[in-house]
Amino acid sequence: MSSLDPYREANRDRWDETVPIHAASDFYGVDRFLAGASTLLQIDLDELGDVTAKSLLHLQCHFGLDTLSWARLGANVVGLDFAPSAVKTASEIAAQAGLTAEFVESELYASPEVLSDRLGSFDIVYVNLGALCWLPDIAGWARVCAGFLRDGGALYVRDVHPITQTLDDESSAGELRLRYPYFETAQPQHWVGGEDYADDSASLEHHDSYEWNHSLGEIVTAVIDAGMQIDFLHEQDWTVYRALPWLIETERGIWRLPQRDGQPDRRLPLMFSLRATRNATPPPPSAPPST
Ligand SMILES: C[S@@+](CC[C@H](N)C(=O)[O-])C[C@H]1O[C@@H](n2cnc3c(N)ncnc32)[C@H](O)[C@@H]1O
Repeated sequence: MSSLDPYREANRDRWDETVPIHAASDFYGVDRFLAGASTLLQIDLDELGDVTAKSLLHLQCHFGLDTLSWARLGANVVGLDFAPSAVKTASEIAAQAGLTAEFVESELYASPEVLSDRLGSFDIVYVNLGALCWLPDIAGWARVCAGFLRDGGALYVRDVHPITQTLDDESSAGELRLRYPYFETAQPQHWVGGEDYADDSASLEHHDSYEWNHSLGEIVTAVIDAGMQIDFLHEQDWTVYRALPWLIETERGIWRLPQRDGQPDRRLPLMFSLRATRNATPPPPSAPPST
């Protein structure tokens, strides 16, 4: 972990600090989870399908509630995250819930080395909301995902739509003004602030965080170039948190742009979901004809 650049090191320290705050928050609802509630969205269940007896690797799993929700549905799960407190808390919650799961501490790009005995073995690699923006290199990320899948295995990603990340969140309500880069940049966006999305009252000691955006084209191309075939790419006009200050909660946990002229405002995608299947390894080149 010492080879981490200062950006990801700062991110890791900040995420590490958030875990106890998140685990105690109503936003994440550990009590509800322990009482039997799933934290998975219906869209993931519908789009990923039956996971019974499937091996599932959850990358950037945070403290594991989604990972463990898949375990409850019968998947054999491994969760991976680079924040030590996330992995520790996830393992504790698994024990409390009586669920079998393995949680591994690793930085994303180091994970093929850390989990080298599991390369090419997973039925599913699962990546969900708030994951890709912490990664500097989307092509490298896709290669990591493909490397863990068996032939025919599926990558499922549902994350913040990259166009949402470009918008000026200080513009007035409904004004969709571009402010931040759409395409991947070598230098990350630097954010400073002690606030936490899961708990308004929290004040974090680690103020700095660094994010990279990746365009939808860069994400799709990375997945294809890593040896996967796109099954679908969906864009949603809703999301599950207040991604922009003027979004409104239209149903519990569902946030959209406010109506315009009495009609739903569908000018902007807020999330996307993508499923891709790892191609079978091409057969070795045939032997040259004997002379
Ligand atoms: C927003 S959280 C993911 C939340 C998760 N989808 C959920 O709903 O709980 C992002 C997670 O990515 C992890 N993370 C960020 N950068 C990472 C990296 N480079 N390698 C591994 N994990 C990383 C953080 O520690 C954090 O737990």
